[in-house]
Amino acid sequence: MKAFTSAYHYDKLQVIMKIFTKFGDKMIYFDNAATTIHKPREVIDAVVNALNCLGNAGRGTSAESLNASRVIYETREKLCKLFNAESPKQIAFTYNATMSLNIAIKGLLQPGDHCITTVLEHNSVLRPLYELEKYGVEISFINCDDKGCLGLDELEKFIKPNTKAIICTHASNVTGNIVDIKYIGQIAKKHGVVFIVDAAQTAGIIPIDVIECNIDILCFTGHKSLLAPQGVGGIYVRKGINLKPLVTGGSGFDSFNEAHPELMPSHLEAGTLNSHGIAGLNAGLSYLENVGMDKLREAVQELTWLFYQEIKDIDEIKTYGDFHSKERCPIISFNILDYDSAFISDLLLTNYNIASRPGIHCAPLIHKALGTINQGVVRFSFSYTNTKTEILYATKALKTLLRDIKNCIK
Ligand SMILES: Cc1ncc(COP(=O)(O)O)c(C=O)c1O
Repeated sequence: MKAFTSAYHYDKLQVIMKIFTKFGDKMIYFDNAATTIHKPREVIDAVVNALNCLGNAGRGTSAESLNASRVIYETREKLCKLFNAESPKQIAFTYNATMSLNIAIKGLLQPGDHCITTVLEHNSVLRPLYELEKYGVEISFINCDDKGCLGLDELEKFIKPNTKAIICTHASNVTGNIVDIKYIGQIAKKHGVVFIVDAAQTAGIIPIDVIECNIDILCFTGHKSLLAPQGVGGIYVRKGINLKPLVTGGSGFDSFNEAHPELMPSHLEAGTLNSHGIAGLNAGLSYLENVGMDKLREAVQELTWLFYQEIKDIDEIKTYGDFHSKERCPIISFNILDYDSAFISDLLLTNYNIASRPGIHCAPLIHKALGTINQGVVRFSFSYTNTKTEILYATKALKTLLRDIKNCIK
């Protein structure tokens, strides 16, 4: 069958699908891996409050400036506890995981260095690496099987005398598979290689212990499972790891020094921080602690599993990933026959009010491995703010959509 994107078929399907009863006017949001949009009330209140009372941290002694310093330090402490880091000072704020990964990769690797990464990576890892490749950094990729599981047995074979770092995502943003970072950390430690983890998809939902997993640098973003507004992220750097800062400038102290301060976290924080966003992150971290991250994770994993159980035996729907256990990120990617994922995602939005994300998800190499370069995949990513009713509505919508497609091409 050809990719099903012609306007004619599209119109015909639109007519057929009017029969389906929509879920009221409420959009059902299944794009939480892109960003979470239903933030706790506490996060919204914290940001609004911060806008009213925070000055510029470390830039004065007014109550407002001190308030900002306090909120920022408290947030570092909460992140330190969440990731079991050795000190809050080892955590610097950035604007997102992309910036953190750029700081880690460009601040560490030099021409002549070799680094190992994986085909699961997001472009926020791949593009900085490709950039450095032009200046003589060598890259090796660990491959994956048709379920997106990494061939970690091969990892040790890739290590060479000039291997400086292993850079790996904690979970694929396409399949939701979790990577065994504890194992990779052991190998990295054994060979004295710096271990950098991209926790964009896992921070705030899957436990991360930087000491136990021998993680040297952890990059995370605030706006997904950490429930913060967009524009705040962070980087943990183990004491003793030397990163050249990506950006230098004002630090609020040591102003006659022509060089940017060496002291963490200021070393990686030039200019005014997004203290309003950090206040939101602070409230998100409190929410996770008060309600319980484990409880929230179990709830969303149950929803994810329910969705999977409802669609897994439908011949015309192909899912991508390893589903041998519920211990995975709340992501399910699939395709319907060989239809373009953008076409299906668009139908789901316009006819059923379901927001999903089609395409390549900024992770080109995993699509090569899965054989979905042309089709992409339709990604559903869930949150504990979703409900069982929404899941069942969505699976019913998919079944109805499939029936309509079949009627249309008869
Ligand atoms: C695995 C992974 N890494 C990095 C990123 C980049 O995160 P941000 O856009 O917050 O910088 C994403 C975003 O979706 C991601 O899924």
